[in-house]
Amino acid sequence: MGNKISVGLLGFGVVGSGVMQIIENNQAELIHQLGTEVHVKSILVRNPAKSRNVDLDRTRITTDPEIILNDPEIDVIIEVMGGIDEAREHILKAFSAKKHVVTANKDLVALHGPELQEAANQNKCDFFYEASVAGGIPILRGITGGLSADRIQQVMGIVNGTTNYILTKMANEGMPYEDALQEAQELGFAEADPTSDVEGLDAARKMAILGRLAFSTDIELEEVEVSGIKNLALEDLQYGDQLGYTMKLIGFAKCHDKEVEVSVEPTLLSKEHPLADVKNEYNAVYVYGEAVGETMFYGPGAGSLPTATAVMSDVVEVIRNVRLGVNGNIVTEPRFKKELKTPDHRFGQYYLRLHVKDEAGVFSTISSLFHELDISFKRILQNPIKKHEVAEIVLVTHQTSLGNFNKALNQLESLHDVLDVKSYYKVEGDVEHVAGTTETL
Ligand code: HSE
Repeated sequence: MGNKISVGLLGFGVVGSGVMQIIENNQAELIHQLGTEVHVKSILVRNPAKSRNVDLDRTRITTDPEIILNDPEIDVIIEVMGGIDEAREHILKAFSAKKHVVTANKDLVALHGPELQEAANQNKCDFFYEASVAGGIPILRGITGGLSADRIQQVMGIVNGTTNYILTKMANEGMPYEDALQEAQELGFAEADPTSDVEGLDAARKMAILGRLAFSTDIELEEVEVSGIKNLALEDLQYGDQLGYTMKLIGFAKCHDKEVEVSVEPTLLSKEHPLADVKNEYNAVYVYGEAVGETMFYGPGAGSLPTATAVMSDVVEVIRNVRLGVNGNIVTEPRFKKELKTPDHRFGQYYLRLHVKDEAGVFSTISSLFHELDISFKRILQNPIKKHEVAEIVLVTHQTSLGNFNKALNQLESLHDVLDVKSYYKVEGDVEHVAGTTETL
């Protein structure tokens, strides 16, 4: 590594062009941090003829990855091409050629992060991926650096801007789901195929990465329980609002006594919770550490320059490590082998909306069923739907185990007086009262 640091860019889409802009516009800041210039030597693109927003020196463009991966002058590879198999192959080759790698590719890191980290370490190379979670928010370094001496117990994240935008529009403007999704796509937050946004998979990938780093343990993507926002009914957002909750797609990662649970689910969040005010396309990650208590990291979760800022923070870290001679030193062994929590070890509050026969004694039957499972109600709403002689009941439970709540759901479905279990959601952030003071609205 000489006086000028040369990097190679794999990909020149939204993030790649942002990286180029930061390198060109913030050279003075980079020189101040690193004592040397940073220069993009080569750029891998699929289609060299494509017209681009950024003015590019065409001699730097190539369609052959080997030109970049085998260039002895290139020290750092920035992978912003996306996709999984090709990107993985290029990164493994880069490590074999002793090049450090920075990536923004959450899909790849969620699926192959541990393998790539291992390959990086074996070659004494750095492998950083700050931009893979929550775009411009420096959350990975917040966890692995700022909170590294603490025992993190819980991470809760609004880590998908598309769904947060949709839910904000549905809640604040009563906008139908499809219209809000179309707006999010037009604004450019959504993935090329928004299925992974709205079905929760994009958030699940980010939560797998966050969970691994927060608890220093092995979490696989398939261990994240996922449900998305596609089937949400406006009624549930409205009832939630009436009860003091706002609907958010929340990623949860919790760890207690080496037992871990990771999930992504639409959640009725108390309006008092710090995450409840995170609106539109913004992201935020709430981290609870045993010593530090509550912390929250907020900012843009996508976009060219915010994501490129995170990429460049990794490049700066790599170059600092080169100067110190400490690349490739990340601990790869999990600190402990986790168990996944069983439903009987998972506790929470739940919201439930039922359609029942509007007859005497029905509520008492439902209430006895919950009583037998030791589940008590915190909130109860009932509305007659007159024309059909049906009543709609909305219940919010006190804390209970997921195991018991699931049993209640099964038993409710077999009750003759219960016509339909319309919906149920996790409730989070409610201030729990002392048992026995159930509030009925
Ligand atoms: N589609 C993602 C989102 C982009 O909506 O948050 C950033 O990963």
